[in-house]
Amino acid sequence: MTSQYQILQSGDVEVAKSQQEFAKDILFGLSQPQKCLPSRYIYDTQGSKLFQQIMELPEYYLTQCETEVLHRHKDTITDFFESNSFNLVELGAGDGKKTKILLSHFLENNLDFQYVPIDISETAIHELLDELNQEFCELESRGLVAEYFEGLNWLSNLNHRCNVVLFLGSNIGNFKPFEARDFLLCLWNALNDGDYVLIGLDLKKEIEMLLGAYNDSQGITAKYNLNILDRINYELDGNFDLDNFEYYCTYDVSCGAIHSFLVSQREQTVSIGALNRMFHFEAWEAIHTESSYKFLEKDFSTLAEETGYEVIGNLYDSRRYFVDSLWQVNKM
Ligand code: AVI
Repeated sequence: MTSQYQILQSGDVEVAKSQQEFAKDILFGLSQPQKCLPSRYIYDTQGSKLFQQIMELPEYYLTQCETEVLHRHKDTITDFFESNSFNLVELGAGDGKKTKILLSHFLENNLDFQYVPIDISETAIHELLDELNQEFCELESRGLVAEYFEGLNWLSNLNHRCNVVLFLGSNIGNFKPFEARDFLLCLWNALNDGDYVLIGLDLKKEIEMLLGAYNDSQGITAKYNLNILDRINYELDGNFDLDNFEYYCTYDVSCGAIHSFLVSQREQTVSIGALNRMFHFEAWEAIHTESSYKFLEKDFSTLAEETGYEVIGNLYDSRRYFVDSLWQVNKM
């Protein structure tokens, strides 16, 4: 295995910048008439662990379905890329469990590729590469510690291989529709004509099933959402009492999204030392923490078309709950 990672962004200045950004976004979110906290801040070490636990939950069908998609269609995917020499770029690989299905199949079939996970967390990249190192001795990999687009731009100047970008897990569903379009346009901009994106999308289905996935019986999803208050407490010197907030989620059929909230169970005032501010909550006032958009085939075909991609194929699980859609960058 040839493995190394490159740090494009790190050091004290970057850490300080991201702390300032965190503080600024929390101040902004809690000052809105509808209070909100961006879900990306749930993912500190504890939040990432809780998300790993969510992915193992029986109710959270998304991971099981996407795992099935990759097993079911690994031959088709392999046949598709067989004749190319390519970078298999992954945006936000997590523990890499699903990716390993493709990696091992590509290696068995002697595909000519290099695995390039991109993540802002050096620890995440380090741990992932360590694990892959032990499991696949023939894998060539080069991790990038960077923001996604910074990593992609760096890569396109480095070599002229085709890029195959994995953006799995319905992560696109956590963006508002205009943010998803912006993100895909930036991705298009960072890629070359003919590059590919394999994008995971959770499909619209029975509402009970959707609600069950975000309201599990063990209360892990509640802890995951509450984690953002914990993080504000220790990183920004806040004094949120987590017992005073209750997790609640609802499905909005008109926009096709699960909306998650933390609801204040009583009137209370919370202080956040680093912001030098107090925030007042009326009884039953809600903080919006996350939205998880669900898609119809026409929703994501339109999204692809509007942002400069051609849909090459849709890979479904047997129940058609989830799709990994293969898109090609079209710049002509
Ligand atoms: C990461 N993301 C796709 C998850 C989702 O389904 O929206 C985050 C999550 N939130 C609650 N459960 C899982």
